[in-house]
Amino acid sequence: MSIAESLSTPSHAAALAARYGAAAPSAEGPWNAHLDLLLSHRSVRAYRPDPLPAGGLESLVAAAQSAATSSNLQVWSLVTVTDLGKKAALAEIAGGQKHIEQCPVFLLWVADLARSDRIGAAAGAEVAGTAYFETFLVAAIDAALAAQNATVAAESLGLSTVYIGAMRNDPARVAELIGLPAGAMVVFGLCVGYAAAGAEGEVKPRLPQEAVVFHETYGAADENRMLAAYDGEMAAFSARQGMADDTWTGRVLARLGSVAGMKGRERLKEIVQALGFPIR
Ligand SMILES: Cc1cc2nc3c(=O)[nH]c(=O)nc-3n(C[C@H](O)[C@H](O)[C@H](O)COP(=O)(O)O)c2cc1C
Repeated sequence: MSIAESLSTPSHAAALAARYGAAAPSAEGPWNAHLDLLLSHRSVRAYRPDPLPAGGLESLVAAAQSAATSSNLQVWSLVTVTDLGKKAALAEIAGGQKHIEQCPVFLLWVADLARSDRIGAAAGAEVAGTAYFETFLVAAIDAALAAQNATVAAESLGLSTVYIGAMRNDPARVAELIGLPAGAMVVFGLCVGYAAAGAEGEVKPRLPQEAVVFHETYGAADENRMLAAYDGEMAAFSARQGMADDTWTGRVLARLGSVAGMKGRERLKEIVQALGFPIR
């Protein structure tokens, strides 16, 4: 199927069913191969050692740099890591996530205000704006948009990925390992490589659209019913994947219900400030 929009196809309905289960919207809207690719996304946590194809990294970077970027500031950078010792150290920071060591290349996405600071220093000009929370947020958003473009590009080439937010378990150690200057911080990592046999798994269901999309005014009257139904979808998904059968709402509470669930990241503001972001 071409990228041009086409009439609905059997793959359209199947993709929506995989993503939403019983709450899938009807497959009457426009559809194309690009949407098919987006809806087939899943994170992969086991990789073959095969490297990326020649020029593959450059293609991913071109996709990443094609993302929108606030005021064209381009306040992000990418550090690629293939060194086994470095990947092992990063995997340890991430609580022993083995896929970081397994994947042929681990991408570290950097919120980077250091370049703007250098531009200011070279021009002998003050760069007062980089000290503010707003600008840190701009850099983190830019990095995320770039990384997501790279992720979609990777998947379009038959590669798989998984984001690694656990780089924020110890951003200072990550910064030290890759020699970041002040004003630069890894906001997350991304494993990229070919999925090991059987590691792709199923598409993970998402909340029904009605639970996250509101028209004109925020809120849905039957949110509780939709959350209960989604708990059922996720329980069935977890059973099929051989995962622990706690509910999705239970996982939200485990992750966000107490400070302990932050696993040390509740101190992130101070750590980010120590990395050279005043965050005023
Ligand atoms: C910013 C970010 C950080 C993430 N960090 C991790 C991580 O450290 N380890 C991991 O296994 N998955 C991580 N994930 C992957 C999510 O768990 C995954 O996207 C989510 O469960 C939905 O599953 P799916 O991507 O297969 O649809 C992260 C995802 C994002 C967007």
